Amino acid sequence: MRRQSYILLLAGLAGISACKPDADFRTPAANYTPERPAHFPPAHYTHDKNKYSQAGFELGRKLFFDPILSANNTISCGSCHKQEHAFADVNIRLSKGIDGKTGIRHTPAIFNMAWNTSFMWDGGVNQIEVMPLTPLTNKVEMAETISNIVYKLNRHKEYPTLFKNVFHRDSIDDQQMFWALAQYMSNLVSASSKYDDVYTGKTTYTKDQQDGYNLFKQNCSACHTEPLLTDYSFKNNGLDYQFTDSGRYRITRREEDWGAFKVPTLRNIAVTSPYMHDGRFTTLEQVLHHYADSVKQTPSLSPLLVKNGKPGLHLTADEQRKIILFLRTLTDTKFLTKAGLTE
Ligand code: HEC
Ligand code: HEC
Repeated sequence: MRRQSYILLLAGLAGISACKPDADFRTPAANYTPERPAHFPPAHYTHDKNKYSQAGFELGRKLFFDPILSANNTISCGSCHKQEHAFADVNIRLSKGIDGKTGIRHTPAIFNMAWNTSFMWDGGVNQIEVMPLTPLTNKVEMAETISNIVYKLNRHKEYPTLFKNVFHRDSIDDQQMFWALAQYMSNLVSASSKYDDVYTGKTTYTKDQQDGYNLFKQNCSACHTEPLLTDYSFKNNGLDYQFTDSGRYRITRREEDWGAFKVPTLRNIAVTSPYMHDGRFTTLEQVLHHYADSVKQTPSLSPLLVKNGKPGLHLTADEQRKIILFLRTLTDTKFLTKAGLTE
C-alpha cells in the first residue's frame, strides 16, 4: 500500500514539474512574514516560489479541515491531526482513515514543519509541497484522486474565489492546492514552552527539572537535538529484535537502516501519546523504561544506545523520573490553544 503511494508520489512530482516549470502566479506581495523564532536555526523550507500571505495560510487551513479532500467527503487532514494534541492523534495507536480503515503507523504531530528535512516516519517524502499527496491518495487514509479533488474544488461555491485571491489564476490546479497546504503547515510554529523560556534566559527550571535536563543532555540530545529536539536523522532505537515495519530500510534498502525511524521531535511530547511509529507505548514512563533497560541489541541498533558494552542507557528510577519532569517543560500550551490555527 505504502509502496504504491510512493510511486504515485513520484508520478505526481513529475506531473507537477512537467506541466508548470515556472511559477509566474505567485502571490504578488507577501504581506505576511512567517514566524521564525530567533533561537531556532534557519528554516529548511524557504517558500521560494510559494510566497506567503495571510490569505494563503487561511486557504491552506480551510483545505486541511475540509473532508471534501477525501473520496467520500468524510475525512479531513484534521480528522487525524488535532491542534490540542500538537496536531497528532491521541489514544489511537494506528491511524484511522476512510470507512474506519486502520493504517500502519501512529499519526505524528505536525508543527515546525518548515524545519523538517523529510516527512513520514521513514522519511519517504522529502518535500512539504508534495507531502499531502500521500494521505490524499492512500487507500486507508483519504482514498481520493488528485484530479477528482481539483474537479470538486473548481465546482465548489467558495474555493474558486479563495484560490483566485491567493494565486491569481482563473482555475484551481493541483499545484495551487499543494502550495496552500504548505503555507499553512509550514507556519504552525511551536516555540513558546517553558523549555524555550529557559533556553532564551527568561526563566529557570526547578531543581528536578534542571537535573532532568542535564540527564537529557547526557543521554538523549545526541538524537533529540536542541533546540528543535530532533536532528532529523534516522535511527534504530532498539524497540524490537524483529521489525514488522522495517522503517527507513523501505526507502533506502540499506541494512544499516533496518528498523530505523526518523528521530521525532520531543516538543509537546506530553500531549501526543501514544508513542513511537506504531504507538506501542502509552506513557512516558514506559518510554523511559524502554531506554533504561529494554533496548534490543540488533546489528542496526544505534551505538548511541549502548552503554558500558550493554544495550540501554541504564537509567535509575529517579533519573527516569527527572527526565520526564524535564520532558514536561516542552509542552507549549500557547501553541496548543492558539486561536486561528484550527478551522
Ligand atoms: C487517517 C489519518 C490521517 C489523515 C486523514 C492524514 N494524516 Fe497526515 N499522517 C498520518 C500518519 C499515520 C502519518 C505518518 C505516516 C507514515 O509515517 O507513514 C502522517 C504524517 C503526516 C506528516 C508528516 C509529519 C512528519 O513529521 O514527518 C504530515 C506533514 C502530514 N501527515 C500532513 C497531512 C495532511 C496535509 C493531510 C491531509 C491532506 C493528512 N496529513 C491527512 C495520518 C493521517
Ligand atoms: C540513537 C538516537 C536516540 C536516542 C539517544 C534517544 N532517542 Fe528517543 N527516539 C529515537 C527514535 C529513532 C525514535 C522513534 C522510533 C520509532 O518510532 O520507532 C524515538 C522516539 C522517542 C519518543 C517517542 C516520540 C513520539 O513522538 O512518539 C520519546 C518520548 C523519546 N524518543 C524520548 C527519548 C529520551 C527521553 C531519550 C533519552 C533517555 C531518548 N529518546 C534517546 C532516537 C533516539
